[in-house]
Amino acid sequence: MARDTVGHTILVAGVLCVVCSVIVSGLAVGLRAQQVENRLAEKQKNILLAAGTYDESKPVADQFGNIESKLVDLETGTFVEDGSIDTATYDQRKAAADPALSIEIAGDDDLAGIKRREKYAFIYVVKDDAGNIDQFVLPIYGKGLWSTLYGFIAVDDDIQTVNGLTFYEHKETPGLGGEVDNPKWKALWPGKQLFNDSGTLAIEVIKGQVTANTSNAQHKVDGLTGATITARGVGNTLQYWLGDNGFGPFLENFRTGALQNG
Ligand SMILES: Cc1cc2nc3c(=O)[nH]c(=O)nc-3n(C[C@H](O)[C@H](O)[C@H](O)COP(=O)(O)O)c2cc1C
Repeated sequence: MARDTVGHTILVAGVLCVVCSVIVSGLAVGLRAQQVENRLAEKQKNILLAAGTYDESKPVADQFGNIESKLVDLETGTFVEDGSIDTATYDQRKAAADPALSIEIAGDDDLAGIKRREKYAFIYVVKDDAGNIDQFVLPIYGKGLWSTLYGFIAVDDDIQTVNGLTFYEHKETPGLGGEVDNPKWKALWPGKQLFNDSGTLAIEVIKGQVTANTSNAQHKVDGLTGATITARGVGNTLQYWLGDNGFGPFLENFRTGALQNG
């Protein structure tokens, strides 16, 4: 076949396309397991960061030894242990969009701006070396300005003290909303108190800075300069997820001792 014909050119281009697509799809399939593993390690690292126990000199998986993931029925605030959900295959992100595994959130209740939420959520129970519960790391997500922010909040076993807050996925603007990832901002969270003396959820991201004159400063965290919308989104996300429609029933069950099998 003559090489300088239209047919030959099309043939060569076609063969090249097929070869390239086989290579690309082969790589995509071949690297999928690695990608899943990397995503899991990243998630585990963020759970440890929220808990304040991350040690970068040690493998993440080793540090996860004292952490147990448990599935919680958000409505009842109890652990799902009857086998009705296969925890090995349960995909919380997919469940949030599945009408059978999620609920629609009424407009007024939708503080996090997520429209639906899953019925069952994994929480991470952090235990000390003696096997006693130290703290809980709870997954949270909610709308900022440009995106849904996904993260974790670590709550001490007093169900009052924040041990840390991290976000592992969002598309807020670097330098503005993206400052939620700034270690200096994250350092403002440990020690903050969730509930006021009346038992009302009082944690709040304010506009501006918490100063010596700020009233009830134990519940308040500095806003993000030039990124009030993202900062407000974080505060609203916490109000939703730590409130009655989120982990509230679970936290209440643990506080009252109704749930000690963690
Ligand atoms: C290109 C661009 C990106 C922005 N990104 C963010 C953002 O990620 N988060 C945010 O809250 N505000 C962002 N803003 C600013 C908001 O539009 C808004 O002005 C700001 O949240 C108000 O906060 P302030 O009252 O602290 O200035 C962005 C603005 C521009 C022009």
